[in-house]
Amino acid sequence: PLVAVIVVAAGSGTRLALGQPKAFVPLQGRPMLTHALQGVAGMRESAQIIVVVPEDRVAQARLIAAQVSAECAADAPARASAPAIEIVVGGSSRQESVQRGLARLHPSVEIVLVHDAARALTPAALADAVVDAVRTTGHGIIPGLAVSDTIKRVAVAVAVADAVPGARLGTVLGTVDRSELAAVQTPQGFPRHVLTAAVAAASPEMTDDAAIVAAAGHPVRVIDGHPLAFKITTRADLNRAEHLLAAAGE
Ligand code: C5P
Repeated sequence: PLVAVIVVAAGSGTRLALGQPKAFVPLQGRPMLTHALQGVAGMRESAQIIVVVPEDRVAQARLIAAQVSAECAADAPARASAPAIEIVVGGSSRQESVQRGLARLHPSVEIVLVHDAARALTPAALADAVVDAVRTTGHGIIPGLAVSDTIKRVAVAVAVADAVPGARLGTVLGTVDRSELAAVQTPQGFPRHVLTAAVAAASPEMTDDAAIVAAAGHPVRVIDGHPLAFKITTRADLNRAEHLLAAAGE
């Protein structure tokens, strides 16, 4: 394959607080990872799919991958073959998880997408658009949406907020020009050599693949994101995803 997608699903899901890694929390009765992989497996071009999971979830992830592969083959019999999905054990940071995925790239791969399993409802068409844009520009590509809220820069006074719940968080320093902002999503796509070199040189605390690539001096461009590519982080996000799936199934 010329394209690979690394699906990072090795996070602990602390903020969701459901007592299990986020990618394995059920959404409409199936793990979030199943939904995420259905999107990736639906891409136009058959890609190498690498899923990075916690060590104790490897067996479960293999079952999920086999199911998604089989369903995809049944849905699209015209395809040459069912998508091959590989499972890799993740690391303690998102970046380490990405790195472990990169280590498994097939030699033929030229374009690498990195995708959060937590963006479980992302449509395949968004991944297709990222691949197309990497191919035509030769640059890193990230999907982004315009920001609709007014954004303030704030000097955060955490101590005050902790002491008095609901009290002010700090002092407003200024208003950020919204026209210059984009809320970015995944999948983020890069020429393979650009991403592998940038990740090898990155400092360990960086969590954003595009920031790592930009820090290494490579251009990154933004294309239109998709509202369904939102990241499921809180219970409210999970509820929203449940409602969207229920509405789509009606
Ligand atoms: O925690 P957060 O939602 O920012 O994580 C984004 C994505 O990175 C999630 O899909 C999560 O599973 C993944 N991740 C990972 N390995 C880590 C931490 C996060 O694969 N150590």
